[in-house]
Amino acid sequence: MEPIIRVENISKTFQANNGQVEAVKNISFSIEKGDIFGIIGLSGAGKSTLVRCLNLLEKQSEGNIYIDGKNLMKLSSKELRKQRQDIGMIFQHFNLLMQRNVVDNICFPLEIAGVGRKQAKKRALELLETVGLTEKARAYPAQLSGGQKQRVAIARVLANNPKILLCDEATSALDPQTTKSILNLLKEINQKYGITIVVITHEMAVVREICSKVAVLDHGRLVEEGTVEALFGAPKTEEAKQLILNTYA
Ligand SMILES: Nc1ncnc2c1ncn2[C@@H]1O[C@H](COP(=O)(O)OP(=O)(O)O)[C@@H](O)[C@H]1O
Ligand SMILES: [Mg+2]
Repeated sequence: MEPIIRVENISKTFQANNGQVEAVKNISFSIEKGDIFGIIGLSGAGKSTLVRCLNLLEKQSEGNIYIDGKNLMKLSSKELRKQRQDIGMIFQHFNLLMQRNVVDNICFPLEIAGVGRKQAKKRALELLETVGLTEKARAYPAQLSGGQKQRVAIARVLANNPKILLCDEATSALDPQTTKSILNLLKEINQKYGITIVVITHEMAVVREICSKVAVLDHGRLVEEGTVEALFGAPKTEEAKQLILNTYA
């Protein structure tokens, strides 16, 4: 079966004032449909850059990305718009609209997609139930805890029925208990809807908790890849060993 995501020799170089930054260096890997795949590495390793390429927010300098077998570089702008809808993303700082209440935050992507007000609201309330936050429908983001805000962000991203959910440090602003509850929600969503989830994090505990496979980034390179059991049980590279040891020291 064709993997849902196939990254082939991706590089990304930024032009900075003091020269070039090679944020991602010749990375290749695949993610199977329905997996929860971790991308780990220290701060600055290139994780966000890589995920922004997957999300079409950033264009790679070299290489190809295939989603569901389709080469993103070969899509027309219309096809690209459609493809973007299939890929959702959640972030560390939730990115909610502060002047809209919870329901209206979730309605936002539906409004953009041209769904009528009544239908959008109905769908938003269903999604709120999925994320366990029905009682906060009328609350504003400022009145919510970090975990609750992330639940709203998850409900909002599900509104478009994505096939892939990218989570860039989505639990990094949360305490360990809340992190666990959000990870459980992501697991539920993965199982219930079959959405492929990519978890980008510097927290090893997150990967252990939720991922089946993992790739280790170090200074823009993919240095090791495998099952979570193999990586944490018997890391092969010095970089992976350091990452795991430092976290559990
Ligand atoms: N827009 C940009 N312009 C210049 N350099 C960038 C840009 N975005 C990221 N970088 C650099 O690329 C490297 C990788 O950054 P990033 O992908 O954010 O890493 P991570 O998410 O793993 O912390 C860093 O050295 C960062 O400073
Ligand atoms: Mg990052």
